[in-house]
Amino acid sequence: MRSKITVVGAGFVGSTLVQRLAERDYADVVMYDIVPNMPQGKALDMLQAGPVLGYDSLVTGTNDYADTANSDIVVITSGFPRKPGMTRDDLVKKNQEIVSQVTEQIVKHSPNCIIIVVTNPLDAMAQLALHVSGFPRERVIGMAGVLDTARFRTFIAQEVGASVRDVQAYVLGGHGDTMVPLSRMCTVAGVPISALISQERIEQIVQRTRDGGAEIVKLLGTGSAYFAPSASVLQMVDSILLDKKMIMPCAVYLNGEYGIKNLFVGVPAKLGAKGVEQVIEVELTSDEHALLQKSAEAVNELVKVMGI
Ligand code: NAI
Ligand code: 2OP
Repeated sequence: MRSKITVVGAGFVGSTLVQRLAERDYADVVMYDIVPNMPQGKALDMLQAGPVLGYDSLVTGTNDYADTANSDIVVITSGFPRKPGMTRDDLVKKNQEIVSQVTEQIVKHSPNCIIIVVTNPLDAMAQLALHVSGFPRERVIGMAGVLDTARFRTFIAQEVGASVRDVQAYVLGGHGDTMVPLSRMCTVAGVPISALISQERIEQIVQRTRDGGAEIVKLLGTGSAYFAPSASVLQMVDSILLDKKMIMPCAVYLNGEYGIKNLFVGVPAKLGAKGVEQVIEVELTSDEHALLQKSAEAVNELVKVMGI
């Protein structure tokens, strides 16, 4: 039997992700949204791309959670995106209600699935999904670090004129202004960037990475990024569905790792068939550790706002 993936929210991130998943041709994909007919229309359009692109994935759009039953992976993208001038944190109350309702339905219809949360503010919404689902921490993961790291890698590659494939990097912490791009560990084909780029430029690139989402929000005028976010979720789904055991930065519920307990924060994690199969603890300098703690505190403030 083919794997089944549900994407909740057929907006920009959700529908772009469904398109990418269909093109992978490794699972049937269900796209759920509350807007009547819209997910059905988008799904039919994508289905009809199959003969041209050569995929057999069955893409279904629905307004009924019964159609999502027994999914292996469920991705939550439903919620409001940021508007210009709005921080991710402003979104917390608005999206808390949506993510709670969605999670209840997911658990009811797909009790054994792995949930990937995308809705912002990301770390808080992942915490909420874990709380509402009652799932073990291995099966609730937030997407942010892959995206933030992709932005960092893009800027570094542009700076040195290298292939993005040769740039390795990690961005840890919460998906917000306090995220922690680990420039010390960033390399181009194994060469530390400190040997290739001035400290001043590295700091500018780090700041541009932190502002990466806001830069796109400002340019778009309405809505937020979706091409790189959907590609980032795809990489996580690949690793889980194909049990690739790739290590990538994800928002994970920490149980004391990095000195942080009972909170979702972005750290390197190994993703495989069971979801989060290992939290990787890299050695941090005292400055990096302090930045990560500060970022965790910012996440904790949001969690407190939700009152869970
Ligand atoms: P969008 O507005 O295009 O799509 C959101 C969709 O959710 C809409 O189609 C809407 O009808 C649907 N929706 C609203 N309430 C719902 C409910 N109760 N059940 C099912 N569907 C519902 O927004 P977009 O651009 O797709 O972004 C979605 C979310 O993802 C936002 O919160 C955004 O901030 C977040 N995001 C997070 C990223 C990350 O790195 N974690 C990156 C990019 C976006
Ligand atoms: C981003 O970073 C909006 O969180 C989203 O683009």
